[in-house]
Amino acid sequence: MKVLVFGAGGREHALAWAIARSPRVTELVVAPGNGGIARWAATCSIPVRCTAVEIREDTASLDAMLKLALAEQPDLIVIGPEVPLAMGLVDELERHDFHVFGPSKAAAMLETSKAFAKDFMRANGIPTAAYSVCTSLVEVNAALKDFTAPLVVKADGLAAGKGVVICASKREAEQAAAEMFSGSLLGAKVDQVVLEEFLVGEELSFFAVCDGTHAVPLAAAQDHKRIGEGDTGPNTGGMGAYSTDALLSDTMRDWLTRNVAQRVVDGMNAAGTPFKGVLFCGIMLVPQHGGPLRDALVLSGAQNSRILFDGKMVTPMVLEFNTRFGDPETQALMLRLDTDILDIFNASVDGTANQLRIAMKPGASVCVIAASEGYPGSYSGGKVIAGLDAALDSSSVIVFHSGTALADQNVVTAGGRVLGVTAYAADLRSALDLAYARLAGINFEGMQYRRDIGWRALR
Ligand code: AMP
Ligand code: GLY
Repeated sequence: MKVLVFGAGGREHALAWAIARSPRVTELVVAPGNGGIARWAATCSIPVRCTAVEIREDTASLDAMLKLALAEQPDLIVIGPEVPLAMGLVDELERHDFHVFGPSKAAAMLETSKAFAKDFMRANGIPTAAYSVCTSLVEVNAALKDFTAPLVVKADGLAAGKGVVICASKREAEQAAAEMFSGSLLGAKVDQVVLEEFLVGEELSFFAVCDGTHAVPLAAAQDHKRIGEGDTGPNTGGMGAYSTDALLSDTMRDWLTRNVAQRVVDGMNAAGTPFKGVLFCGIMLVPQHGGPLRDALVLSGAQNSRILFDGKMVTPMVLEFNTRFGDPETQALMLRLDTDILDIFNASVDGTANQLRIAMKPGASVCVIAASEGYPGSYSGGKVIAGLDAALDSSSVIVFHSGTALADQNVVTAGGRVLGVTAYAADLRSALDLAYARLAGINFEGMQYRRDIGWRALR
């Protein structure tokens, strides 16, 4: 099989690495990829290359991606990021009879519109926080009466992680909504905002593979969204992630598959917009409920659905859906994956996911992100990265590249998140030791990373 992967980040590097391990792949193209992927490609036993294409939110980019696929004629296309999904790249490619792993534009609405996702969850009995969709400040002010502080304001639409504001007071919520409507918060005006009850609990990212009819559990991971240690400072795209079996007990896996992922697949199917690809469920494990939360649970039919997690009874509630793999969760997941990833992609495309048994290696994997100085604010690129000795990469420790480029003979920084040192071991402590030891040998000017990835699990 010749496989084409769209995307440029660490997630795509990890997917490409997993694909290249399949005995069935004969050729792999990453578009556009990045400097690190290009350098890694040279070490692969099958032909792997990066090819230029710009992934932007406009029709010229959509045309360019389609043209590239027509020129390459791959047997399978895998789409990493959300922007091309939101633009309908899958629909375009399928019109040309390509086999594509990823959801249609209509199915990607679960990620592209938070209002759509919330209404869908309510209609399909999927447990989620109480909410209100508002199209004006007048509506926001009226709806605020039903909420208590703290509360959450979410911009409807893709916002690269910047569209969610946790507000300590109703005054702050009104302000956040005003900034979303005026465009001052995100650079573009939003038409709708979602006010949402604030949930307290532990977060879990659950991934399921879907084929339009069936949802099959893949694994769980925990991301670290804040820039600072101890989960402080502004949100980022994700500064590190880990995945262990303990994150997903059998009970939890079955519960999330039945009450969340399969309900999504059934609901989207019934709506005539079947969901295929990977469903990334952002979950809050809420230890107790009362007040508006109880209403939400009653509404969703999930009352009494409390399950044991880490010795506590919790109710899992959906914070959000993404309709793609996570970054950096995917880097950590790929080191644990013990099933040929092409079997997973093919089953999703062919509608045979019910025959899949996805195996993850027992133990733990982690990904620690090294970012540019200034990230998630402004940063500069072009810093030479030292210590990327490819001979040190193995299936236990590997550096996946996020924002890097090749300049002369050097790999240089070319993004906010630069690379993710990813490690697999028998337990989390050992995986962390491996990752941090490797990271200690890597350096670029202004490099910053969190030293506390996995801290909740270790505690
Ligand atoms: P989202 O982009 O919807 O995943 O939100 C980003 C982050 O905001 C989540 O990972 C949570 O940490 C936080 N968040 C979102 N919704 C809520 C909520 N209802 N209650 C508490 N925290 C939330
Ligand atoms: N790591 C969070 C995301 O990919 O959205």
